Amino acid sequence: MATRKTLLSVAADSWPVAKDELLRHVEDAVEVRRVGEESAVLEAAHTTAKDVAALARQVPLVFPRHLTDVVAEYDHATTGLDSVIDFLDPAVREFHAGPEVSLQIWLSGKTAYKFSRHDAWENAAQVLIDRGYQVTRTGSAVAVSICFTPKTAIVGVNRVADSLSSWPGGEVRLSKTPEQVSRAEFKLEELFKAHPIDAGVEPKGRALDYGAAPGGWTRILAERGYRTTAVDPGDLDPRVLKLPNVVHERTTAGNFLRDTKDRFDLIVNDMKMSPDRSSRFMVDSARLLNPYGAAVTTLKTGSHHVLEQIDESFAILGAAYDIEFARQLRHNRNELTVVLRRFG
Ligand SMILES: C[S@@+](CC[C@H](N)C(=O)[O-])C[C@H]1O[C@@H](n2cnc3c(N)ncnc32)[C@H](O)[C@@H]1O
Repeated sequence: MATRKTLLSVAADSWPVAKDELLRHVEDAVEVRRVGEESAVLEAAHTTAKDVAALARQVPLVFPRHLTDVVAEYDHATTGLDSVIDFLDPAVREFHAGPEVSLQIWLSGKTAYKFSRHDAWENAAQVLIDRGYQVTRTGSAVAVSICFTPKTAIVGVNRVADSLSSWPGGEVRLSKTPEQVSRAEFKLEELFKAHPIDAGVEPKGRALDYGAAPGGWTRILAERGYRTTAVDPGDLDPRVLKLPNVVHERTTAGNFLRDTKDRFDLIVNDMKMSPDRSSRFMVDSARLLNPYGAAVTTLKTGSHHVLEQIDESFAILGAAYDIEFARQLRHNRNELTVVLRRFG
């Protein structure tokens, strides 16, 4: 029986829970095999990368970060892309009549590769150009991905819109800036790139940040144009306190929720709490949101009974919200980021 293969990227720490999640939700899955530190191949009777992307949005599947349909797998020590290109040509044409493709190179894990990502990109791009393709780094509708695992190179072709991330292997790279006050900022920054919650909404309105100290998320929200209330018994960085549209409420989230009469357009929550407690707290907080307001919460699952905790949290959150997006982002560690939309 001919099967379909999808190459996925997942966090190294989340294997094998990511495998369990796929086997649970992809009904025709035959096997999920790890091929590199952060890469796995799902083999299924009919399911394609596009189908997995749809499941990731609907169910949602939280662990896959990047997807592509596998076209070929070859040994990079002895074979080259030029011998694979005969498989690649029809695969590209299946998605796309034009000759323009983005080329994405991804080295899976900390293996001692004998080449750099840059050299691999240049060599593969030349092979594609020699065969008549116009090759871009990013921005084309279709991406040709090559994932170098310790033993093989896996070549994939997929529409970027069905790949979950436009970054090679979902490896979003964000750089530290002098204004940054916490590493946690990367999580919110990455989320806004992956799922622009408030695109086109102007003015942004009011935001509430639970567990705000030292103020990274508050800073990002304020910069985005939200008038932001930061709730935390701890100190905010003085640079954040000085921002004109930031107010610090030095109290616990529970006390704030009990006493406030304010209403918000966005609530974010990065408090260190068990996922079920965080979820209940977000449901209680839904009354502070304007209709169709959004909320962002991290669910800190740790590494035990992860799928059970996710199921329980989603069931709790479902009392007040639609789950619009849920994913373990590259900047999440043993946690996932969830975007919620309050029922009308
Ligand atoms: C991971 S840090 C948040 C980092 C923040 N998002 C940033 O970007 O700078 C978690 C914060 O949650 C706060 N926290 C924990 N429990 C809380 C509660 N019940 N009420 C308010 N804040 C709480 C802690 O004081 C801590 O500052």
